[in-house]
Amino acid sequence: MDSPTNTVAEQITIDVHLPPGGPLSGMAADVRAGLTKPFKELSPRYFYDRRGSALFEEITDLPEYYPTRAERAILEHRSSGICAAAGDPTTLIELGSGSAVKTRVLLDALEKAGCLEAYAPVDISEQITRDTAEAIASEYGILVHGLVCDFERDLERMPLSGPRVIALLGGTIGNFEPAQRASFLARVANLLGPDDHFLLGTDLVKDRQPLEAAYNDAAGVTAAFNKNVLSVLNRELDADFDLDAFEHVAFWDAENLWVDIRLRSLARQVIEISSLGMSVAFGRGEEMRTEISTKFAREGLAGIYAEAGLEMVEWWTDAEDLFALSLARRAA
Ligand code: AVJ
Repeated sequence: MDSPTNTVAEQITIDVHLPPGGPLSGMAADVRAGLTKPFKELSPRYFYDRRGSALFEEITDLPEYYPTRAERAILEHRSSGICAAAGDPTTLIELGSGSAVKTRVLLDALEKAGCLEAYAPVDISEQITRDTAEAIASEYGILVHGLVCDFERDLERMPLSGPRVIALLGGTIGNFEPAQRASFLARVANLLGPDDHFLLGTDLVKDRQPLEAAYNDAAGVTAAFNKNVLSVLNRELDADFDLDAFEHVAFWDAENLWVDIRLRSLARQVIEISSLGMSVAFGRGEEMRTEISTKFAREGLAGIYAEAGLEMVEWWTDAEDLFALSLARRAA
């Protein structure tokens, strides 16, 4: 039938590469490993259940949380320059696309340049990827090839027809530990053909005050976001964390150039994690790391690219130098 819905459906392909256990399949082993370390840690990948994603959306609107607005300003002001520097790519692959709010600015510019043929949103959430694919296909009339996967694990599955730009926006790279970041970027370098580019959003090193304010907002949304990971463990692993028995901690670590985000136990307590058959003791005042949010400077990032076999070709910042987008290609 020739209904408009049908036309859009024909533009869309969705590949699902989630492991048999679904998006949270590695969680049990991961949580066990993190909570048996002398300095306990949880992976930030478990923040984003429905409530966590909604809380993050709320964070992006907070007066203290500048990164989302700064990145959007760069995308809005520089999108045609970005397209040109990337060689008018036909395909945009977006890692961690979510609802693709930022992407639309870039898609608009690619559309204006007349080069755009396809968009590949890559996200761990099947529902969000399907919704995004539908919306973009109907708004832009382009091919949409959605990939539901863990982009770190499944990076090599990205569609291969160039010239492509692979984008990782939002400052997500800041959550990676240095070794994890290095191997991820080396794999990106390997994926890039001679006409392909990598577009990366990075928050920038700045004074302690605005950094710490961005992760300790007055309204307490970041605290709720941080503690929500405990609700995820309660639900998914049948744990019994009391969210009121922990407090949110976030401080700038000027040595490591990251905001260190933790949960501090307010009392001596033992947590049962039933599905792991495990109990975890916390001392009073003991801190567990839940996230790092690394900040970058141009020179440092150029070095990080170089070590991964990438070469920075362009660098754009907002008017206040809060955030940067950089474009890289495979080093010659
Ligand atoms: C989504 C990873 C970019 O590091 O700023 C916001 C997540 N954590 N507030 C960030 C986050 C606490 C955010 N990223």
